[in-house]
Amino acid sequence: MKKVLRIVLIIVGFVVVGLLGFVSFVAVRGIPTYDPPVVQEMTIEATPARLERGAKIAQMHCIACHADADNRLTGRHMNDLPSLFGTVYSMNITQDKIVGIGNWTDGELLHFLRTGVRKNGTFAGIMPKFATMSDEDLQSVVVWLRSDAAPVQASGKEALPSEFSLFTKLLANTVIKPLPYPEKPIVIPDSTDEVAFGRYVADGLGTCYACHSADFTKQNPLNPELSAGYYGGGNEMKTPDGKPIFTSNLTFDEETGIGKKYTKAQFIQAVKACVRPDGSLIRSPMFPHQMTDYEVGAIYEYLKTVPKIKNDVADKEKEALASN
Ligand code: HEC
Ligand code: HEC
Repeated sequence: MKKVLRIVLIIVGFVVVGLLGFVSFVAVRGIPTYDPPVVQEMTIEATPARLERGAKIAQMHCIACHADADNRLTGRHMNDLPSLFGTVYSMNITQDKIVGIGNWTDGELLHFLRTGVRKNGTFAGIMPKFATMSDEDLQSVVVWLRSDAAPVQASGKEALPSEFSLFTKLLANTVIKPLPYPEKPIVIPDSTDEVAFGRYVADGLGTCYACHSADFTKQNPLNPELSAGYYGGGNEMKTPDGKPIFTSNLTFDEETGIGKKYTKAQFIQAVKACVRPDGSLIRSPMFPHQMTDYEVGAIYEYLKTVPKIKNDVADKEKEALASN
């Protein structure tokens, strides 16, 4: 018996030393850098339709994270992220050639938005990757970034550098990896198939699952439905005044989800205007989405088909506030 115990202790010792070694390695290495990617060059034609579409998509994503107080995309403190990730700032993505993205090519931008890897091989671990957005929609975003829209006009103002926590560095050395650049074209499903179209609007276009699943660190951007607690909510974020808030359960569970809470018309109002059926306001970091009624209605039809999850998010918030 004693011998077995000794062997077990020795093994545990090795594992502990190994883990400590790995953690110190990660602390020094930080966010890893990859081989500079081979970028497919292209010139995206700017059409009025793309510009209009790109503006809408930017409002849901880029503006939400990159706009400063003057609505210029010079970057901001990401104070709605849990502090566990460190002190994170988004960056200047205006057309400035030095601190912004004025010198990036269309191909480099698309590559970054899909994979998270810049042309020099550095990796953006926190910024979401738009892995399942259609080619047409992502190209529309690039057209908007190049346009004369006010938020993207060149500004030399720079956000502060991020100080990533050890936790973020550990994630970026283990589970958060660059995504592959898609090999096949990604197209928007036919809108007459409401469920397939709604799945695209929810996962590919709106990336609602990213906030409305269980955990930012347990997501699968290539196959969103394999994310932990897909649409069951409970992901912890922060309100603008720094209080914990948990994303809502959007599955059709009758008790804890939206099964009984929302009709389709009420759901459309909630997503577009952030107002609940009882008139109360849905709080930040949720924000009004510029989508058409048909798009939001299709999300509702899709959510009906998502496996129900029992997860009482209101209860979690009460507990977190009580222990604060
Ligand atoms: C959830 C917040 C978030 C969203 C949404 C977001 N970004 Fe970012 N972005 C960041 C953060 C944070 C960084 C800093 C890099 C990092 O650490 O991940 C960044 C970095 C970047 C960079 C790299 C800039 C540089 O100089 O290296 C580009 C380009 C960029 N974002 C473009 C976009 C575009 C275009 C959109 C909209 C389609 C967008 N981002 C949406 C948070 C976000
Ligand atoms: C940046 C994170 C984020 C994104 C992206 C996001 N949400 Fe939310 N959403 C939240 C949070 C946080 C709440 C909880 C607000 C509260 O409790 O007041 C919420 C609440 C809601 C509610 C209210 C549910 C209820 O219980 O009353 C609906 C409906 C909703 N979101 C739908 C969506 C849809 C559809 C999308 C995608 C188009 C989406 N959300 C994208 C964070 C997000």
